[in-house]
Amino acid sequence: MTVIVTNSYDDSCLHAARMIREVVSAQPHAKLGLATGGTPLPIYRQLIAWCKSGELSFANTRTVNLDEYVGLQGNHPQSYRYFMDENLFNHINIDKANTYVATGLGNPEESAAQLEAKVYEGGVPALQLLGIGANGHIGFNEAGTTLTAKSHVEELAASTIEANARFFDTAADVPTKAVTMGMKGILAAESLVLVATGANKKAAISGLLMNDVVTPENPATFLKLHKNATVIIDTHLADLIGYQY
Ligand code: PGA
Repeated sequence: MTVIVTNSYDDSCLHAARMIREVVSAQPHAKLGLATGGTPLPIYRQLIAWCKSGELSFANTRTVNLDEYVGLQGNHPQSYRYFMDENLFNHINIDKANTYVATGLGNPEESAAQLEAKVYEGGVPALQLLGIGANGHIGFNEAGTTLTAKSHVEELAASTIEANARFFDTAADVPTKAVTMGMKGILAAESLVLVATGANKKAAISGLLMNDVVTPENPATFLKLHKNATVIIDTHLADLIGYQY
């Protein structure tokens, strides 16, 4: 695992955006694995800026997203399809037909099976972008998930519902289930880039960076088994966990 410690969250996002740019420039037909949540927003803003200035083209890029809430239609403002359209796809020259976010409607098991196929269709992602939950979840793989899990329907942890309630009117509006890529599919990507910031990620990131333990109780620790994983944190978070840089 490569660990990058930057001076600020903005710098972390710039670093991640540059890694994505490198992949898209070198392999225009590459597939990207993308993530939602608050953390990647500045990364997407940077990619949009490069695309608008003509420095980067997504004309032939394909994407697959980590997860989607069960029960939300793609035009629901809190659905991850809507998030991706609003925060990235509508502002870059990507062909939307080449973007895939699992459907939150219909039979969730079928949606998971479709997502699993999309992870591998035409080759695995050249780069999978990741955030991390306060509890160490990756995608929506909550504590207790397995290394061999395929895409599946996950019951969201209470802490996840609480963390994501900020995007909804009330916590009761947060869906309780999601379709998520499993750890097997996530770890299949050629490279992984995880960005983390903020004191609420302290325990999860400490488990990832400060020891050699791999445990389903902190799914992020599975990244220790990947041959090309990069974890980007800022000095604030590094200091909080006592990581030397
Ligand atoms: P966040 O979510 O980027 O909004 O903190 C990360 C996650 O839950 O994986």
